[in-house]
Amino acid sequence: MLIVITGVSGTGKTTLGLGLSARLGLPFLDADQFHTQTNIAKMSRGEPLTDEDRMPWLQALADALLEYQERGGAVLACSALKNAYRQRLQVHSDQHWIHLQGERNLLWERMLARKGHYMKASMLDSQLAIWEKPSFGLLLNVTGTPEEVLEASLDYLTSQGMKMKIGVMGMGVMGKSLALNLAEKGVSVSLFNRFVAGKEEGVAQAVCDAHPEFPQLLAFEDLQKFVESLEQPRKILMMIPAGAAIDAQLDSLLPLLDPQDLVIDGGNSFYKDSEDRVNRLKGIGMHFLPMGVSGGEEGARKGPSIMPGGNPEGYAMVAEYLEKMAAKDQNGNPCVTYVGPGGSGHFIKMVHNSIEYGEMQVLAELVHLLRFGFGCSAAQVSAIFSEWGKGELKSFLLEITADLLLFKEGGELLLDKILDQAGQKGTGAWSLTTALEYGIPYSPLAEAVNARGLSSEKATRTAFARQFGHQLEKISGDLQTWLPKIKEAYALARIINHEAGFRLMKTVSDSKGWDLNFNEIARIWTNGCIIRSELMESIALGYSHQVSFLELPGIREKVKGNRKDLAEVVGIGLTHGFALPVLSAGANYLLARMTAESSASVIQAQRDYFGAHTYQRKDDPSGAYYHTHWTQS
Ligand code: 6PG
Repeated sequence: MLIVITGVSGTGKTTLGLGLSARLGLPFLDADQFHTQTNIAKMSRGEPLTDEDRMPWLQALADALLEYQERGGAVLACSALKNAYRQRLQVHSDQHWIHLQGERNLLWERMLARKGHYMKASMLDSQLAIWEKPSFGLLLNVTGTPEEVLEASLDYLTSQGMKMKIGVMGMGVMGKSLALNLAEKGVSVSLFNRFVAGKEEGVAQAVCDAHPEFPQLLAFEDLQKFVESLEQPRKILMMIPAGAAIDAQLDSLLPLLDPQDLVIDGGNSFYKDSEDRVNRLKGIGMHFLPMGVSGGEEGARKGPSIMPGGNPEGYAMVAEYLEKMAAKDQNGNPCVTYVGPGGSGHFIKMVHNSIEYGEMQVLAELVHLLRFGFGCSAAQVSAIFSEWGKGELKSFLLEITADLLLFKEGGELLLDKILDQAGQKGTGAWSLTTALEYGIPYSPLAEAVNARGLSSEKATRTAFARQFGHQLEKISGDLQTWLPKIKEAYALARIINHEAGFRLMKTVSDSKGWDLNFNEIARIWTNGCIIRSELMESIALGYSHQVSFLELPGIREKVKGNRKDLAEVVGIGLTHGFALPVLSAGANYLLARMTAESSASVIQAQRDYFGAHTYQRKDDPSGAYYHTHWTQS
């Protein structure tokens, strides 16, 4: 886009030009810099330029405009006093004109106040004498402040069809990173961040200012102007905190939109809330796309895994942009797919996060066991993890854990200075309540949520440690003997975590008729997201509805071969005072799933004993219910 600002001296062309340049991320060109030395000398002597003097100058400017247009555009400040001059500078169809004008006395005062400008204030009258009223573009009176002139110019440019492809609301870490990701792919983006006096002021503009390399970003604090800046049908990606803030934002946004527009919620919203919102917007004929996004700040900036749900028409409207933004799988395909109807996109993101919780907790348990049980240094544990990461255990979380174990601050390990109280924003706990709602055993991942809860009870833990004399004990066994077992235990615990998550997804998908495609879900989780790993690559290839997850080739062998290693590692850890909630829960969950003759007969007998709840018998295949009078008297 090319913007030319014209006007006589003192109208504020440079101030406006620099303002537009900053706001639109376009380079600023000052026409005075294109004058020949002869012209400059003439003007310094107070002699007006003739049309002949101006011709080579106008030609140089026209050439420069064309050259800059090829590189993405520019803002030019140039007197261009006559329509003939302006015509010579009209070089492209995507070119906009803003003509500044003001009262002679105001301009005179401004010029007298200037320093270091080669024009003499006396030139003003001659300029005004030849100035012609423009036949095209915006004629703007400069009586207002420079900020008002800038805003009026931006309003004009937007009204002239300078429409942006997509809008991103919320300039937090994720919103900003996704917007920059889009801009890098050549997509024009309007940025919106609310204005909160003294707290959030000029936030979106600061993003533009910090990234002059992306001229296709435009910042807004005014919601209406933000909406008006967008190409129709509008596509708006909300990246704001989950919960009430989403509904409040929809309340203010929806009245400004048209029925064919699309709103996307890219935060970690609870999937049932998302379903309500899909229905709410459907009620007014509008599309709503609840969309999981994984990958943290770096993923969002360089390529996240994207999980959109809602109606497919909505997805089709933005598929092109989402594919540009997303990470690429090993075949070069984007890690985004239309997940399914309703809140399914947010649902699978929620389950993704609970697997993430499980994976993180298992690694935390192993770091502790290796460091304080087997006496490894942090650097040794890091080296062990790095070694594991070269093979089938490769995962992003293993990699970052190996990394953080080496991070020093002032010569000391930063990890040891971090308070041992884990935070959580809700997705893990929502997965657990969903698993309970659908009757799906979820103990390994539930324990990851519970472990975070217990970690927050620091004061009680400290008091109890003292009262009960608890200490982490050194394990006398040889690390070299234990290490292969620990590695196999880790491999199996990971399989169990993933199995629990995929089982929950399958159950909910069947119950809701979503028909989720799990090979495809695993595929979009092979890159960009936090739980990307070699294991996910094999799930993407091998997942099948025909057999249970635990029976998949590659996984079946691990389940068979590693069970005892997991049990042994849990055993040695527990006896030496290490809490291993996810490793232990995984071992129990797996055993419970493969025990043919379980202890549940006792439970049934107890229930029938005290409550006449009845039971079925192994020796009666009809499935009939029995009740026994358990007391002899
Ligand atoms: C991701 C992450 C991301 C975020 C979690 C953290 O996939 O990119 O999961 O969504 O880091 O929300 O959640 P907790 O604060 O609950 O650990």
